Amino acid sequence: MSKPEFYCVGNWKMNKSPAQAAEFISKLKEQAKPEEQSRLVVMPPALVAFEVAQQLKGSSLRWGGQNSYFEAAGAFTGENSPQILKEMGAQFCLVGHSERRQIFGEADDLLAKKVQALQGMGITPILCVGETLDDRRWNRTQEVIVRQTRGGLQAADPTKPMWLAYEPVWAIGTGEVATPLQVEEAHSILRKALKEWSAQTANEVPILYGGSVKADNARSLAGINNVNGFLIGGASLKVDDFLSIYRLSASPAAV
Ligand code: 13P
Repeated sequence: MSKPEFYCVGNWKMNKSPAQAAEFISKLKEQAKPEEQSRLVVMPPALVAFEVAQQLKGSSLRWGGQNSYFEAAGAFTGENSPQILKEMGAQFCLVGHSERRQIFGEADDLLAKKVQALQGMGITPILCVGETLDDRRWNRTQEVIVRQTRGGLQAADPTKPMWLAYEPVWAIGTGEVATPLQVEEAHSILRKALKEWSAQTANEVPILYGGSVKADNARSLAGINNVNGFLIGGASLKVDDFLSIYRLSASPAAV
């Protein structure tokens, strides 16, 4: 891998039915040029993934899961495996999104198993880390994001693709975006943590920023050192917004 390119990943969360997803993909295929398509990833809800995978055929758009269990198969009601994702054509999967950590109680040791299992199936895990507002107020940001990174990567293979996403919990879905200085500090802390994990490959790991990314802040965020892409929630649900964020990030503002 050479120096990372800029990527926009749209996390749809629990939004869009199969019909709405099909409409979105057909519009995105029409509007995004092939070279733009290869930098865009959509993440539909698990039951909508089949429709998305069909619609993406013949384009260079890619998709990923929002979650996966680590076991290959068995009595795990409600879960999906890396094997299922792989057969359906997923190339990425989120691991440890703050909503999974907070609402579903997922902790670092479980997330480490997920990262390992996904890498084993040739799916690129996107490990999400981020501090709460309390963590930030009490000056614990560095401690928390380093712990989450080390914890999630404890069984990871540095020779296989892996992405990281910094999503401050207080900036998710709130309209409140981290300042350029806060983002720069966090991403540089994460790059350092990656270097401790694997000196050889750390610079090749894309680190995405997520948390209220919109067209009006995309250019300034994209220009920050060590920001290699965005993980976008609300603004990824409309083709026009998603694409204009990508296009604005392709000509980042100097910061
Ligand atoms: P918003 O872009 O809606 O703040 O969501 C961010 C996020 O959680 C992406 O995973």
